[in-house]
Amino acid sequence: MRRFVTSTVRRYSTRNFTWWDHVRPAPKDPIMGVTEAFNADSSPNKINLGVGAYRDDEGRPVVLQCVREAGARIVGSQFLESNSAAVSSKMVEECVKLVYGKDSDVVNEGRFAGVQALSGTGACRLFAEFQRRFHPESRIYLPDPTWSNHHNIWRDAQVPSKKYHYYNFDSKSLNFSMLIDDVKNAPDGSFFLFHPCAHNPTGMDPTEEQWKEISYQCKVKNHFPFFDMAYQGFASGDPEKDARAIRIFLEDEHLTGCAQSFAKNMGLYGHRVGCLSILCTDSKQGAAVRGQLQQIARAMYGSPPVHGVLLVSAILSNPDMKSLWIEEVKMMVNRIQKMRMTLQESLENLDSPLNWEHITNQVGLFFFSCLTPKEVEQLAREFHIFMTHDGRISMGGVTTGNVNYLANAIHDVTRSGKEETKILCNVGV
Ligand SMILES: Cc1ncc(COP(=O)(O)O)c(C=O)c1O
Repeated sequence: MRRFVTSTVRRYSTRNFTWWDHVRPAPKDPIMGVTEAFNADSSPNKINLGVGAYRDDEGRPVVLQCVREAGARIVGSQFLESNSAAVSSKMVEECVKLVYGKDSDVVNEGRFAGVQALSGTGACRLFAEFQRRFHPESRIYLPDPTWSNHHNIWRDAQVPSKKYHYYNFDSKSLNFSMLIDDVKNAPDGSFFLFHPCAHNPTGMDPTEEQWKEISYQCKVKNHFPFFDMAYQGFASGDPEKDARAIRIFLEDEHLTGCAQSFAKNMGLYGHRVGCLSILCTDSKQGAAVRGQLQQIARAMYGSPPVHGVLLVSAILSNPDMKSLWIEEVKMMVNRIQKMRMTLQESLENLDSPLNWEHITNQVGLFFFSCLTPKEVEQLAREFHIFMTHDGRISMGGVTTGNVNYLANAIHDVTRSGKEETKILCNVGV
């Protein structure tokens, strides 16, 4: 008997050692990998242009004044210890006003389902899960290129994805005719993800007329438009203007979905504040959809955190605080725009053989350069400048102090007029 017990224990303990033997290292996330490489570099000149976070002109992370003031107002809030439902629903109300307009019918008539989400990523993930549950046969159409995590999010929710044409890498502009063809050729009732402003990574948005055409064709095909709004305010400096694409779809009476994030435009990355809203035919349908979304969230992470939501609610619900926020968004956008102009001018003053007009033709946090992966590697190795492999530069990390160093480095790795770069940069710009 004793011998049996010993050998059984031994057998089990041997098995314990094999629990995770089959687990292989995950491939590095393209954006997190850049930060790791940056952290490991000991050069005093190093620059991190990988992560999409805004920095001030000294390269420091920013806490907006409106956030500081909101923080002072919510100190000791009774909600920090209690059920967060009331806090969430107040924020959701402010979020939907910000996206769909404060006087919009959908908001006034409660024709939507809205839930607090774990920033933009969490809102997309919640929606992907909801899509799979209630349209299990569907797929999602994603722009090519797009934020790399979109692919992971819908893959993990087990919703197949397909790319639609978005960007013409030769002309450095929107590939509008092929985009529209893809919308027309997708099976009726497909799900399409759009970036309503400051497209990541290309910085290239459709014009108002083009949005109208996209909306019209989506209507004809009965597609479901899902907007990932991670940068409201970062395209034009005005959150109202940046909601224009969504308002066009609203005018065309689409039912849409929207993921909102306050990571960038309020600098609340660490608080993970976001909102998922889905427009519905009436308030009864809205309540049903909201209940299902809450149930999905409940099994994933229970209830979302409260503190950041109190900050966002305090800012958006108070006219003075909201004005201060809008001013600060403008200030961030102006600084980025100034850096875009300086970078372009510096490259032109260096007599670069390449055309750099796309630096200022693009909008938002990112400059989608035409640097090749080899040039990106050379910038890291020789100049300690880090960016994603596709040559996306976070303009948030470019400052008065480093912009000339950056221009000189870019000039150095591209000036030999490497054919690859020339082809990418100069055709049809
Ligand atoms: C297009 C897009 N969507 C969503 C997100 C997610 O942002 P977060 O989860 O930090 O709010 C990002 C962040 O980079 C983004 O660029």
